[in-house]
Amino acid sequence: MSKRFYLTTAIDYVNGAPHLGHAYEKVLADVIARSRRSMGQEVFFLTGLDEHGQKVQQAAQDQGLTPQAYCDRLAEEWVALTKTLGLSNDDFVRTTDARHQKVVQAILTKLHAEGHFYKAAYTGFYSVREETFLTEKDRNPDGTWDPKWGQVNELVEENWYFKLGQHQQWLIGHIESHPESIQPDYRRNEVLGFLRSQTLEDLCITRPVARLSWGIPLPFDPAFVTYVWFDALVNYFSVPAALGDPGALDPLGASGPAISAPHPGLSLWPADVHVIGKDILKFHAVYWPIMLKALGAPLPKTLLVHGWWQKDGAKLSKSTGNVVDPVAVIAEWGLDAFRYYVVRELGIGPDGNWTDDGFKARYNAELANGLGNLLNRALNMLNKYRGGVVPTASDELAAEVVVAVQATGDHLRANDLQGALVSIWTLVNRANLYVEQTKPFSLAKDPAQAARLDEVLYNLVETCRVLAVLLWPFIPGTSEKIFAQLNLTGSPSSWKLTAWGGLPPGHPIGAPLPLFPRKDLPPK
Ligand code: MSP
Repeated sequence: MSKRFYLTTAIDYVNGAPHLGHAYEKVLADVIARSRRSMGQEVFFLTGLDEHGQKVQQAAQDQGLTPQAYCDRLAEEWVALTKTLGLSNDDFVRTTDARHQKVVQAILTKLHAEGHFYKAAYTGFYSVREETFLTEKDRNPDGTWDPKWGQVNELVEENWYFKLGQHQQWLIGHIESHPESIQPDYRRNEVLGFLRSQTLEDLCITRPVARLSWGIPLPFDPAFVTYVWFDALVNYFSVPAALGDPGALDPLGASGPAISAPHPGLSLWPADVHVIGKDILKFHAVYWPIMLKALGAPLPKTLLVHGWWQKDGAKLSKSTGNVVDPVAVIAEWGLDAFRYYVVRELGIGPDGNWTDDGFKARYNAELANGLGNLLNRALNMLNKYRGGVVPTASDELAAEVVVAVQATGDHLRANDLQGALVSIWTLVNRANLYVEQTKPFSLAKDPAQAARLDEVLYNLVETCRVLAVLLWPFIPGTSEKIFAQLNLTGSPSSWKLTAWGGLPPGHPIGAPLPLFPRKDLPPK
């Protein structure tokens, strides 16, 4: 039984419409999933929705719906987004799924039985309007509370807490000895800096039902529901357990059999990569490994932490209307233009800035004029000069293709998706330059140059074929169109097909169609 490459995204809060940030993260994960599959690994790619908690309860109430009815309605839109984005996810988890809730409760039961939790009273300042406890940081410098909090009362509340004290040292050691555990490196340093300089406070893992009822009931104390983050993080583990992965069922001990029958052929846990945004790093880098360690389960291998998008230099915000609607962009420009732009523009790590002009500029220069034009020229010339039939094989560009394939693969294995696209475009640009240098349109005028023209045409179409394979993880639809135009049966989804010489001489190609219709930039 070989372990599958198990990859997840953050599960999105269901309290609004999907935006650029959500779509970006899902596309990153999809490119990783597809590239691993292309390279021959078995992959399991999970995404889904985070449906409990105060925000969802509030949003449902505002619309006059029960939380479950509200979630069911919105879930349709989010599931539709996975299709719109062309995601190749293997499962979609909702934290209201019975399969998920059972695992959360099994974990809580086990950790409680083993003494990881205690109940305590907390006295604090509570904002009735926002239904949240405030901290000293929320106070104005003069000691008053901002009017946005509404009435603020001092309140005593009992809750259950998770003891974190005994976990701080081993966690520091683990992160120090596993450099790959948090990428990029500066995010790892951030976590280590925090863990070395501050004592971890115990984590409150409940909310009293009287204050918040929309959550997973605490199995050992009916007055409480589970804190939404304790619930949400478990999604990564609950799906493998529900599917019968022994690696997830075994740590659940006595509760295992009630979750699912073991499926001896399935091995998912531990996760290989959790793709998340920078704002939820602490939950994933501190609380999640501690929860797993307490449970006796192996820790995930890598947290891959991306930055945040802005638009026109300002925060994305529904209230100010500063938003990018991925669905609208895709409707206007096509899915692959969106997927290409977000991955090419913003490497995994820093923050990025969306501008409509930047999007259009890359569309026109890199997709329409770069890739699209290359394929179009290659196919048109082959049709015009050789009746659409692939000539004798030649390997003039083979060595450069090998270098580009190697570099792209290295970037992909290192989760550097932007770097991979840069490598692929060195090949696009090289092939376009090759046309300028070899001037096939001049060669065609001179019968003495027929053999040379054959060579040039072969190198061009064969490079287009390899490009289709390299591009498949990023822009699978376009990659398949290239294969179709080359009249190749089968899919460009296997990395093995990057080997030079795949186009057999004598092969008839198909009809050229523009991949990315040119769209003019609006006047400045
Ligand atoms: N529900 C939690 C995650 C639980 S994971 C066990 C949550 N949801 S969220 O909807 O607020 O965010 C989902 C993901 O989208 C997070 O990884 C977050 O960083 C990402 N993004 C939200 N806004 C973003 C941008 N503006 N830019 C890029 N990613 C952003 O947090």
